[in-house]
Amino acid sequence: MKTDIRNRKDIELLVNTFYDTIKTDSVIGFLFTEIAKVNWDEHLPKMYDFWENILFYTGNYSGSPMQVHKDLHSKCPMRPEHFEHWVHLFTATVDTLFEGEKATEIKERALNIANVIMYKTLS
Ligand code: HEM
Repeated sequence: MKTDIRNRKDIELLVNTFYDTIKTDSVIGFLFTEIAKVNWDEHLPKMYDFWENILFYTGNYSGSPMQVHKDLHSKCPMRPEHFEHWVHLFTATVDTLFEGEKATEIKERALNIANVIMYKTLS
């Protein structure tokens, strides 16, 4: 039976699984691997902090997601379809691994943040 997202360890599993999928994804994988050339050892812990802060109010994330995505967009223009696909992959990963209140919340937050980043990046 699936559990809810309970702690940082669960978030690590979610984030690792999500970016394992992203790396080989045919629609948006190249933005991470070829355009941004992401250093995964640095990016993954940032994303643990980002989501842990959102779900459990830990206050341990300080970054500039807007600027990061604007920079990426200036190197390779992104489209709404890229963001929609990101949300689709994220939601599918959550649903594969977890169920419950926090699982629902993280999907809603991801969709809302994706819309904000998309709006600010593409306009
Ligand atoms: C088309 C969709 C997206 C693409 C291609 C994308 C790509 C990237 C890339 C390449 C980075 C920089 C990694 C690095 O080199 O350090 C990044 C960072 C980040 N992304 Fe995204 N992203 C997308 C959507 C989102 C969404 C929807 C969210 C949140 C719900 C998000 C949250 C973040 C955060 C928090 C960072 C770390 C910023 C920092 O503190 O440095 N991204 N993203």
